[in-house]
Amino acid sequence: MEDVLNDLIEWLRIPSVSADPNAQGEVRRAAEFTATLFEKAGLEQVRLIDGEGNPLVYGEWLHAPGKPTLLCYGHYDVQPAEPFELWRTPPFEPTVIGDNLYARGAADDKGLAIILIRAVQQFLGAGRPLPVNVKFLFEGEEESGGDHVSRYVRENAGALACDAALICDTEMFAPELPTICVGLRGIVYAELTVETGAVDLHSGVYGGGVPNAIEAAARIVAALKDKDGRINIVGFDEGLIPPTPEEHESWARLPFDENEYRRTEARVFELHGEPEFGLFERLWARPTIEIHGIAGGFTGEGAKTVIPCAALVKLSCRLGPGQDSVQVGKMLSDAVKAVAPPGVRSSLKILHGAPASVVDPSNPYVRHAALAMTDIFKAKTVFTRSGGSIPIVGLFEEVLGVPSVMTGFGLPDDNLHAPNEKVYLPNVYRGIDAIARYFERLGAL
Ligand code: BES
Ligand code: MN
Ligand code: MN
Repeated sequence: MEDVLNDLIEWLRIPSVSADPNAQGEVRRAAEFTATLFEKAGLEQVRLIDGEGNPLVYGEWLHAPGKPTLLCYGHYDVQPAEPFELWRTPPFEPTVIGDNLYARGAADDKGLAIILIRAVQQFLGAGRPLPVNVKFLFEGEEESGGDHVSRYVRENAGALACDAALICDTEMFAPELPTICVGLRGIVYAELTVETGAVDLHSGVYGGGVPNAIEAAARIVAALKDKDGRINIVGFDEGLIPPTPEEHESWARLPFDENEYRRTEARVFELHGEPEFGLFERLWARPTIEIHGIAGGFTGEGAKTVIPCAALVKLSCRLGPGQDSVQVGKMLSDAVKAVAPPGVRSSLKILHGAPASVVDPSNPYVRHAALAMTDIFKAKTVFTRSGGSIPIVGLFEEVLGVPSVMTGFGLPDDNLHAPNEKVYLPNVYRGIDAIARYFERLGAL
């Protein structure tokens, strides 16, 4: 346990922020450190794969003839740590407090991805053969929508042939409740620019006579949804596959109190969203549009009377299963054009996109993972979906034709992407045991 913790701390010290163009050296250092973890675990053919974008890290152990082959995926890049002032401990100085380890990347994804590596090490490091074959492929641009890994998977499908992918990059539904995630939403990320003219103008001299770029941007984004959260774009949910009645039933059996969730997890004054759908469907299976930020004009100290001539909006859609991310991007662009006020030049740039994915819980690779987790956590494993996105999962299905087994060991209060991200260390250790047990179960099939 001490050795796992030390390795994890060393990995977390490296600020591998893929969104930061100035962090390329650190990102590479994290890739190299990932490779040393693979080597130490006893993986073979360990190497960095360079290409356009951040390096991929590969390793394999293929000496279990006739046994299943798992493709183990994780990402060594992390989200930016800003705003720094809200961290109680420095984001890249990993700090243990009680049972938790605090650092950027602690739960997303280094602290969970290390579970896969150390589960292999439990066998090979003790001179025991692995009961299954494994191929490890870790990437360094999951958090920034990069496509190095997707190009690599498309071009090397033969070399990556496997029976299932195995991913530790999701959460448990509740503490002590082992959870397999069987669905993720897709995503389309976009940047909207709005221009009304060449220069900012005095709001007294020109107000009443000219358009305002921020007001125009606000009108555009406000027109995309109604006040209850329904998307106002005709045909937007074309092809959307709703959850099955069985899935609804299994969600209804999850231990859950909506008000408790509102108060202690979401910490909002009121929940919001399409009233004709339940919360789980809204979070896990319905499309959304969210505004991430609006920039432009004057937001400094004091008062300044100006009419801004430009505005920038960052926004993204989450997609349900069946929605096509390219089509959604086009519909969004068309919708922006259609609602832009007269005299306003707007343009929408799509930064990246990925489809949703669903996994059949009755698939044997999923079922045995659930049993292995039940063995170790001593509680019945539940199946949930998540509203988040892991772009590669759809591609594993499409290109390799395999399901992704998403055994998440994060907790709902891990503060992913937020200040004070942490991982609950007992879950890291139990996760390693659960994955090792999973290897044994698959090897005994
Ligand atoms: N690990 C998360 C996704 C996730 C979080 C799935 C919690 C299930 C539960 C992943 O690293 C992530 O943050 N993905 C991004 C997508 C990306 C294209 C920026 C996301 O969902 O915003
Ligand atoms: Mn992640
Ligand atoms: Mn993430």
